[in-house]
Amino acid sequence: MIDLACVTKKFGNLVAVDNITLNIAAGEIFGFIGPNGAGKSTTMKILACLLRPDAGTAEIDGLDVTEDGDAIRQRLGYMPDVLGVYQDLTVEEYLHFFAAAYRLPRKKRRSTIDGVLELTDLTEKKRAMVESLSRGMQQRLGIARVLVHDPKVLLLDEPASGLDPRARIEIRELLAELGRMGKCIMISSHILSELAQLCTSIGIIERGKLMYAGDIESAYRKIGVGKTIAICLEEPDEDINRAFQMLKGHPRIARAEIVGDRIDIELVPDQQGAHFVIELLVGRGIHIASFSPRKPRLEDAFLSLTRGQVQ
Ligand SMILES: Nc1ncnc2c1ncn2[C@@H]1O[C@H](COP(=O)(O)OP(=O)(O)O)[C@@H](O)[C@H]1O
Ligand SMILES: [Mg+2]
Repeated sequence: MIDLACVTKKFGNLVAVDNITLNIAAGEIFGFIGPNGAGKSTTMKILACLLRPDAGTAEIDGLDVTEDGDAIRQRLGYMPDVLGVYQDLTVEEYLHFFAAAYRLPRKKRRSTIDGVLELTDLTEKKRAMVESLSRGMQQRLGIARVLVHDPKVLLLDEPASGLDPRARIEIRELLAELGRMGKCIMISSHILSELAQLCTSIGIIERGKLMYAGDIESAYRKIGVGKTIAICLEEPDEDINRAFQMLKGHPRIARAEIVGDRIDIELVPDQQGAHFVIELLVGRGIHIASFSPRKPRLEDAFLSLTRGQVQ
C-alpha cells in the first residue's frame, strides 16, 4: 500500500530524508519512530503529495505521488503534526467542511459524519466548539477528519504527542480499531512505548536514514535485548539484598536492578526459559511473591539501534 524506493529529500544542504526504501502492506500498523528532526514528517509529506522527492519514487496503492495526486488523495487520510483548528466552528461543522472538501455527496454526509463521530467517541461533543475541546479530543477530531472519505491508507503524524496518559490510551484504542477495519496505517512518534503494543511493524529513522524496518520481535533479536522479568519477594526487607547479589552475578542474567521493593532483571538473549531464576531463589529459601516476565522495552531497542551499534 505504501511504497518508498530510494527516496531522498534535501532542504539546501540538509539531507532530511536519505535514500529510504520501505514497503508497508494493507492491514499493517507501521510505527515510524525517531527523534525530533529525524525526517518523519518530511517522509510523510512526500507520501501525502505535499513535497516532491528529489530522488526515488513514492507510491500509495500503486500510484505515484508526483503524478497521481488526485487519485491518491481519495485513498489517503493525512493528519499533519499540527491540527489546523478552524475557530468558530462546531465539531460537526468542522467535519461537514471536510466532507464537502472531499466532495462527499450531500445526502451521505450526515450519516458518514455520525459514523465517524461515533468511532472517535465524539458524538456527545458534536455541538461543541472545536477550540473548546481538550487536546486529546482535538487529536481524535483530527483523526475523524481524515476518516470522512473512508480512505484505505492513513498517515498520522504524531497523533499521541502532547497527550496525557488517558488520552493516549484512547487514541491507541481508536488506532487499534482502525487497524481491525483493515486500514493501512503509518503513525509517527517519538513516544516509543506507545507504539510497541499497537504496531505490527516499526521503522526507526535517524538523521534521515532508516536504521531498521521490520517487526518488533526481530528488532529485539537483532540488537540482543533479552527478556526482562520483575520479581517481587514475600519478605523484601529480609531477602532483597541477598537475592540481588545472587542474580547480579549469574552468567545468564545480563542486568539486575533493585527498583523499590522489586528486582528487575534482564536475561541474556537465548532460547531457554526463565525457570532457572525461580529455582535459584527458591533453592536458597527466598520466597517469591510474584514473577512477571515483560517484553523488552522498545526504548532500549531504539537506543541501541540509533547508537549505530548494530549494522
Ligand atoms: N521546509 C523545510 N525547510 C528546511 N528544512 C526543513 C524543512 N522541513 C524540515 N526541515 C528539516 O529537515 C529535518 C527533518 O525534519 P522533519 O521531517 O520535520 O523531522 P521529524 O518529523 O522527524 O521531527 C530537520 O532537520 C528539519 O529542520
Ligand atoms: Mg515531525
